Amino acid sequence: MSDTIYNEGFVAGLFDQMSGSYERMNTITSFGFYPLWRVQAIKKIDLKKGDQVADLMTGIGECWKPILTKIGTTGVLTALDFSDGMLNIAYEKKKQFPDHHIQIVNESVFANSIPSNSQDAVICAYGMKTFSDQQIQDFSAEVHRILKPNGQFSLVDVSLPKKKWLRKLYLFYIGSVIPRISKLFAIKNDSYKMLGIYAKNFKNAKRTAELFSKSGLQTEYCEYFFGCATGIYGQKLQ
Ligand SMILES: C[S@@+](CC[C@H](N)C(=O)[O-])C[C@H]1O[C@@H](n2cnc3c(N)ncnc32)[C@H](O)[C@@H]1O
Repeated sequence: MSDTIYNEGFVAGLFDQMSGSYERMNTITSFGFYPLWRVQAIKKIDLKKGDQVADLMTGIGECWKPILTKIGTTGVLTALDFSDGMLNIAYEKKKQFPDHHIQIVNESVFANSIPSNSQDAVICAYGMKTFSDQQIQDFSAEVHRILKPNGQFSLVDVSLPKKKWLRKLYLFYIGSVIPRISKLFAIKNDSYKMLGIYAKNFKNAKRTAELFSKSGLQTEYCEYFFGCATGIYGQKLQ
């Protein structure tokens, strides 16, 4: 089980199954925190008009609006994901931004065609928890490869808070309450339960910070709302 859940085909299938309910479930179950943490993560770095930004594990494009507001109509947003289901919704969302440059790329981040040294920034929201340690290491190498020298990155994901009582409550919420809410919406499979398992295994972004530093990226670790989400941000040095 532990290896299987990090298998790319398994993860893509999981998000294909969730794609139809992802936006609704996110809005209802996160009490507005997921959108807030996305925006806070994007604000950690300095995006400018005309920047080229890669939104890795873009899903249905939930990060696009705050990114496009910063990079304007002269910037280019490359939105990568490997779930056909999620990207079908992203293609629809793209129509809301007719004046902006959005390139949707249907590829795995581990075999992507984004040119080396091409991006001013890399963003990734809630896309790390489905990675094993080895995959996070490979991911850090990809972020390093596609960033321009001095390019910046910011990544965020749901995490286990440090305070014991809050951790217990949060684990119960993501492991039991959210899957039950999904059943109320007649979602028949256990995909939302899996997200709780990934979050529990991921714990927080500390290991990610270590692996990114080892890849030669200047990396800072950060917490959002008492550690209910954690992230890293930083820069590729010259
Ligand atoms: C929890 S969703 C997050 C989506 C979005 N970034 C957000 O803020 O809501 C994680 C996304 O990562 C994608 N993903 C997971 N592993 C991937 C990989 N190896 N390559 C590309 N996409 C991947 C999934 O298909 C899914 O759409």
